[in-house]
Amino acid sequence: MPLAAQLQATASPSAPTAEPVNPAPTTGDDPQLALKKKLHGQAASALRKVFQVPGLSFAQRKLHAVKLNHQLRMLEFELGHTQLQSWPQAVELPVAGNCNLRCEMCSLAHGAPTYPFWTLQDVSRFKELFKFASSVNPTGVGEPLMAREFFPMIEFFKSHGLMVGFFTNATLMDEKKADKLIRLGVDAVNISLDGATKETFERIRVHAKFEPVLRNIRQLVALRDASGTKLPRVQIAMVLMKDNVHEFPAMVRLAKDLGADRLYGMYMSKSAAVLEPRMPQHDAARTNAFLREGRELAQSLGLDLWIPELLPEPASEAARAQPEQAVERPNQKLGNREVYCAYPWMQFLVHNDGDVSPCCQIHGPIGGQPFGNIHQTPPEQLWNSPGMVTLREKLLKGEPPGICRNCKLRTSQMT
Ligand SMILES: C[S@@+](CC[C@H](N)C(=O)[O-])C[C@H]1O[C@@H](n2cnc3c(N)ncnc32)[C@H](O)[C@@H]1O
Ligand code: SF4
Ligand code: SF4
Repeated sequence: MPLAAQLQATASPSAPTAEPVNPAPTTGDDPQLALKKKLHGQAASALRKVFQVPGLSFAQRKLHAVKLNHQLRMLEFELGHTQLQSWPQAVELPVAGNCNLRCEMCSLAHGAPTYPFWTLQDVSRFKELFKFASSVNPTGVGEPLMAREFFPMIEFFKSHGLMVGFFTNATLMDEKKADKLIRLGVDAVNISLDGATKETFERIRVHAKFEPVLRNIRQLVALRDASGTKLPRVQIAMVLMKDNVHEFPAMVRLAKDLGADRLYGMYMSKSAAVLEPRMPQHDAARTNAFLREGRELAQSLGLDLWIPELLPEPASEAARAQPEQAVERPNQKLGNREVYCAYPWMQFLVHNDGDVSPCCQIHGPIGGQPFGNIHQTPPEQLWNSPGMVTLREKLLKGEPPGICRNCKLRTSQMT
């Protein structure tokens, strides 16, 4: 269905209600509320016509579309809408379905199924969503640089004005591929390094070799710098486990030495029961000590660092029983409305089997309501699927479903 028709369909009488689920308290005719409703109508109408505005270049239209979509999303959030006329700002697509490695903490090493790699034809089905989105992450569970049509797909994303950032194990990122990433204007390459020493890296990242990966990273940085551009940003991602967290300060030094623009630390999530004893939450004080040391080091070296919130110490009984609950985050607050997590207003994610959801944690119905699958339904119709609407309702009511209560990913930022 064309996008304009899709937008009209969302406002049709048969569509789910666009009334606030949890309206902010008002007395009588609240002029603020009336104004927001009016602005919402105007923004929704302007968004429908944004690509028809004459005399603008594609870049100007795209910028306008992204800004309008953002304003509309903020208004819909404040008005408590769960059936949205705004579109996702970020799209995550699983272009990779298999990998040349079998890292110890990855679901692929624990029997998760593999899938075919995506093609240009697969990603072109998303073009209606791409019109209003600002970024795409073409990764999935697997290695994207193995996808035969990875570079044509990147060209396609770029032709839709999207920022492109993806994760890679960098084992296949040779000179030719690095050069293409630079020439196609990729915005960020996130390279996974889970050990700062050969021994730890090769133990965790099974089948990868430490030195060639480091060589590939240095080569990408050198080629980029020689070409006089700042893109792609080269970002190192380290999954934090009990048995590698002691190398976090050394990883800060290594990332700086490699010329990386940023280092991310991410707590391991439990992709298999066997990983339970390796969760860093089991030794909160030790994990925090290495994170603090790394943070101070990064500050002194001038390395941009992103780490998750430190773990509560001592861990409560509940946190010991449910380690992933141990990370505290404030609610998202916008105007007079609060929400536990803003992802369902912002992000559209496709899992490797084609199921969709707002984030990688949710895979399956919420409250019995399905999110749908892109092999059966056009992606643009799934943004307001019964599952998405139900999840937004629950979050606005302050009744996050169990999976959200256990989530360490939830965002407190409506960006
Ligand atoms: C699934 S991989 C796919 C991309 C690529 N193969 C790579 O390793 O970067 C995406 C990211 O998820 C991380 N990851 C894998 N298993 C994880 C786990 N159990 N918990 C947290 N992150 C994990 C990887 O280290 C990587 O940074
Ligand atoms: S390289 Fe990435 S996808 Fe491959 S096994 Fe490791 S974490 Fe999983
Ligand atoms: S709280 Fe977690 S599981 Fe729930 S929507 Fe947000 S990111 Fe997903």
